[in-house]
Amino acid sequence: MTQGMPMTNAYDEAYQRSLDDPEGFWGAAAEDLVWTRKWDKVLDDSAAPLYRWFTGGELNTCYNAVDRHVDEGRGDRLAVVYDSPVTDTKATLTFAELKDQVARFAGVLRARGVEKGDRVLVYMPMVPEALVAMLACARLGAVHSVVFGGFASNELAVRIDDAAPKVIVSASCGIEPGRVVAYKPLLDAAIDQARNKPSCCVILARPQQACDLIDGRDVDWAGAMDSATPADCVPVAATDPLYILYTSGTTGQPKGVVRDNGGHAVALKWTMKNVYDVRPGEVYWAASDVGWVVGHSYIVYAPLLNGNATIVFEGKPVGTPDAGTFWRVISEYKVPVMFTAPTAFRAIRRDDPNAELLKNYDMSGFRTLFLAGERTDPETLNWAVENLNVPVIDHWWQTETGWAIAANCMGLHPFPVKPGSPTKPVPGWDVRVLDDDQNPVEPGDIGSIVVKLPLPPGTLPTLWNAEQRFRDAYLADFPGHYKTADAGFIDDDGYVYIMSRTDDIINVAGHRLSTGAMEEVLARHPDVAECAVIGVADPLKGQLPLGFMVLKAGVDRPHEEIVSEVVRMVREQIGPVAAFKSATVVKRLPKTRSGKILRGTMQKIADNEAYRMPATIDDPAILEEIDDSLRQIGYGKARA
Ligand code: COA
Ligand code: AMP
Repeated sequence: MTQGMPMTNAYDEAYQRSLDDPEGFWGAAAEDLVWTRKWDKVLDDSAAPLYRWFTGGELNTCYNAVDRHVDEGRGDRLAVVYDSPVTDTKATLTFAELKDQVARFAGVLRARGVEKGDRVLVYMPMVPEALVAMLACARLGAVHSVVFGGFASNELAVRIDDAAPKVIVSASCGIEPGRVVAYKPLLDAAIDQARNKPSCCVILARPQQACDLIDGRDVDWAGAMDSATPADCVPVAATDPLYILYTSGTTGQPKGVVRDNGGHAVALKWTMKNVYDVRPGEVYWAASDVGWVVGHSYIVYAPLLNGNATIVFEGKPVGTPDAGTFWRVISEYKVPVMFTAPTAFRAIRRDDPNAELLKNYDMSGFRTLFLAGERTDPETLNWAVENLNVPVIDHWWQTETGWAIAANCMGLHPFPVKPGSPTKPVPGWDVRVLDDDQNPVEPGDIGSIVVKLPLPPGTLPTLWNAEQRFRDAYLADFPGHYKTADAGFIDDDGYVYIMSRTDDIINVAGHRLSTGAMEEVLARHPDVAECAVIGVADPLKGQLPLGFMVLKAGVDRPHEEIVSEVVRMVREQIGPVAAFKSATVVKRLPKTRSGKILRGTMQKIADNEAYRMPATIDDPAILEEIDDSLRQIGYGKARA
């Protein structure tokens, strides 16, 4: 190297190229896929700030994820491993078998009138049929919308109304440790509540629990598959929607994140090699759920596009049967790269602090652990590194982005890990930190993290049925940029640090939830005059929701009764996944003089953290009252 020349590496080169010449960069990545019609333009900026990728191009995502491997002679390679400690079941599918199942199920959907552009809602537990249903939609050019099983009927109904699916695919039940979750009654109740009724439901009958089918509306999965005529892949425009995935917004109305076909396939396949460093033919495991974005991207699409086998794991990191389950799966299927949420590792560490169970398994093939969904706390990171003896990579992304914004790109150039940081922006992401006046802040200073437009391929082009909401939520506050709604900083070495959300989203066990949506539920209780929900720190789940209620004048019922009623209401109206278990009654809520509830200060009091008296507080004495109420339920000073 010439003296004085800056050192470069594969990451720096790729990163710079992706920003200097996005069309060249992503155009080259797109050559890795099979297109039925080549694109006219890699990046279409004609409607900026709304950008589209690969306009004019046509392809089929299912073809690239499944059929392609069969056509290219890899049909007998493993595509799906199903491992279900909760039902004591294991099964595998090769790419050829997966193709057969998916083509048949596409035939089932087509026979029920599903065509390109129609929506299909999928409400399924972690079984291979969930993947088959999603891929079958992609095969027909239909748009799937998967709803996580831990949501209640009401949430399901809201999504049914927004997506207006022609068909819903579901199962008789899901299995949670210690209980069978009857899905069918939840589904029936949601359809009753929804204005947009599907014309048909295809129901997978699981042996753990039977269910009744409604004549004229419901069909049995197995029976329908037996008589199905397999359907072929339908080419779609690169810009056509592949799926809608609803995620928490700031109100009870979730945001329908739209994903396109072309940019999504290009970006996800690229990440398998460059971010995760996984080779085709290897087994890749994302221990998440198909109901979340991690499941969409890294249980279903990315591994299959890259020719990897993917593991569908129906269980928990602990208790199914013990904290050695992850090690068992890694050694049994020779998993080199795994992806999960830090909370899973906190649970394992809690149950097996010295990782004794690890000694029972051959982990020699394991190369890298990736964590996301919430910040990886340094203690969890260190515990995982010490025990697994492999790089542990925190990476940061969002449902909206579909893949990592910042990561240590193991396939390009691994950097030293700095605990608490997801390392550097991934190629394609021009990450900036701005102050409220939209000026860049100094390295190390906290501000709003934004991404200069255009976002790379595979990110959300819009929100379903809500383009104005898309513009308002993501593009309006920092013109020319995408607002991540995360706050943080970038250090002198270019490492990104994510510190907090700038909105009311909290992260419970890696699950994204809106405290605003929970407040809407509490406010519906007849005795509640006013309320607030905040996220408090939790050693296992990262955060937990905590409610505060001011009761209407004259209500003199025991507070415990009201608390247990609102706890039940959140469980019934949002779902068990909200993990809303604690609330307290207070006389008043602390507010600014203009009437804004001081949630940030309440959270600091609840977590027993130092806080500054807000200059605009209406009446400082209220904070003492809040502290007293919190102490009675084990928060605030009771936490010391
Ligand atoms: N269907 C129905 N109910 C579900 C469900 C599903 N698919 N998933 C979760 N629930 C229920 C649980 O049974 C639990 O109900 P409960 O209040 O009756 O106990 C509630 O929702 C909360 O579930 P969960 O967040 O899973 O908490 P947990 O206490 O059962 O387990 C962990 C704690 C840490 C083991 C668990 O959260 C975990 O494995 N987290 C990993 C997170 C993850 O994969 N995130 C995805 C993003 S990468
Ligand atoms: P979701 O849309 O469910 O993936 O949640 C996205 C949000 O989770 C982000 O906006 C962050 O607030 C948080 N998040 C996800 N991954 C990380 C991470 N690695 N570090 C810090 N926060 C994260």
